This record gives sequence, C-alpha cells and structure tokens, in this order.
Amino acid sequence: MARARTRTPVPGNAPEGSGDPARLSLDQLLEHDALGPADLMPTRYRGPRSVTGDGWVEFATRLERGEELALIRSLTATNRRVLDVGGGIGEMARTVAARTGSCTAIEPHPQLVEAIRDEATRGVVDVRPGTAEDIPFPDDSFDAVYSAWVLQYVEDIERAVAEMVRVCDPGDPESKIVLFAAGAGNELMRLVNEVCVPIAEEPYDHHGYLLTQAARALAARGFGDFSLHRAESSIRFDGEEPAERAATAAAVLTGFWYERHPRAEEIRSALASALTGHFALRPHAIGDQSAVLVARPGA
Ligand SMILES: C[S@@+](CC[C@H](N)C(=O)[O-])C[C@H]1O[C@@H](n2cnc3c(N)ncnc32)[C@H](O)[C@@H]1O
Repeated sequence: MARARTRTPVPGNAPEGSGDPARLSLDQLLEHDALGPADLMPTRYRGPRSVTGDGWVEFATRLERGEELALIRSLTATNRRVLDVGGGIGEMARTVAARTGSCTAIEPHPQLVEAIRDEATRGVVDVRPGTAEDIPFPDDSFDAVYSAWVLQYVEDIERAVAEMVRVCDPGDPESKIVLFAAGAGNELMRLVNEVCVPIAEEPYDHHGYLLTQAARALAARGFGDFSLHRAESSIRFDGEEPAERAATAAAVLTGFWYERHPRAEEIRSALASALTGHFALRPHAIGDQSAVLVARPGA
C-alpha cells in the first residue's frame, strides 16, 4: 500500500558521483529525494523476489557498471578485510580484490558460488556458501561489508542488516557498511513497476523502501553516520534490429525477474512492446541507476 508523504530537499547534500558527499543523519536520509518517489513509499516489505543463477548470469553479462565498480573500489580503498554479501558472479569482489589484494564473498546460489570460484578469482576472492541472514563468519571479522542489489531477495531485511553489523568491526577506523539498490529514476524499476507489476499482480517494487528500512536497522545498531552516493549503470543490447533487440531484452528481463511466474509469457510480451518504445529514445541501453548507502559507526 502506498503512503502519501511530502519530502523536503536536504540542503547541502550532493549525492551524485563518486566523491565524498555530505554526511547525513537518519532523518535527513529518510527524506532524501535520491531514494525514489516518496508518495509511493510502501508501509511494509513486499517480500523477497526470486532469482535463479541462469537469470542473473544472462542479465549480469550485459551490464555496464563502470561507475558502480569505480565507487566500490574507491569506498574500500583503505580497507583490508572486505566482505561481499551476495556476490553473484563475483564482478565487484574481483574489482575490490584488484585494489586491496583480496576479498571474501558469500553467495547462496551454488551455481554462482562456482562462477566466483573460476580461474580468474581463485586465490584472490575467497567465496563461501551463505546468506545475508546467516553470515558464516565470527563477530568483527571484517572492516568493510558491502551488499549490492541483494536486499530485494532477503527474507528479513532487519536480520540481514543485523548480521552485516555483527561481522563488521566498529572499532576499525575504516569501518563501513555499503548497500547498493535502485535509485530515483531507475529505468529498469520503471519497467518493472509500470509493465510487469500490474500483470504479476504484485505490490509496487520500491528500492528506496529497502534502503530506508536498512538505514533504520543500521542506526539502531550504532551505524548511524550516513552518506549517499549515486552511480549510473545500464544493461546493453547491441547489434540487432530494433524489434529483435526489444524481443531479446524482453526475454532477458523476464528470465531474470519472472522466470517461474505463471504469467511470464504475458509479461515478456508486454515488455517487448514497452521496450520498442524505450529503444526508439535510447537505442541500446536501459538505465540501472543506483543509490548507494554508506553507513559508518556513529550517531
Ligand atoms: C542481483 S544479484 C547481485 C549480485 C552481485 N551482488 C552484483 O551486484 O553483481 C543478487 C544476488 O543476491 C543473491 N542472493 C539471493 N538471496 C540472498 C540472500 N538471502 N543472501 C545473500 N545473497 C542472496 C543471489 O543469489 C544473487 O547472486
């Protein structure tokens, strides 16, 4: 259910880019425009989305996420013990490890654990099976914990955040927890909400809600010194005629978002038609803009 709310701009905050944006209190963060439409903010969690290994691999291999990778590299540049929660195929963990020398990842999906364990990451990324809600490491094992595009898959946001806090050493001067989710204006989320959600008969999918719930849980556990960044990413579809490109994109997105849904075929067809219009304006890419929450120990 949507809840109407007015939102005031936060003076002096500049979340764009990978610089060092202003520090935010919990109250300032909760009001921030970068978290998406305030008037559509849900009052409760819609529940976890499902994701398959194949669906994510097909999607991930088309992603162009240079700004996201640059941002996580710069945010963890001074860290030495870094954990990636829900590592996928390990692209971010490899990026972190290239700078810090190593990175640990947990990932629940066996096919993706194997993907991270490929030759390219062996010895550099240490990957273990595990979920955000039950992180298989002792307290204070890491000085940075990050999780990218995972909150929408967890059963319990508060429990996942509590686990990230538990394994993140608050006594380390570089201690931080970093969460990536869809930011305001995200083109893929607009497609989900305008095209797919009505057919799937699901609640509106609002990633700003995920980040506000995570921020409340972080602040309650002593990680209440926030900053907010934005990063531009996109998924690309190259080299085909426009109609064929729309059909390919619709199949990839349906496979990622709704592979096992009983109305998947209807969703794919509606996406193909919406994407024909989208590609007329932006021929080869669909934006996947992120909002990135950084929480450090503090007020
Ligand atoms: C959209 S992918 C993102 C992968 C990676 N973080 C990235 O940004 O490239 C979501 C990932 O979260 C994983 N995942 C699903 N449920 C999870 C959970 N409860 N705890 C941790 N990871 C989970 C999936 O298997 C998948 O690898």
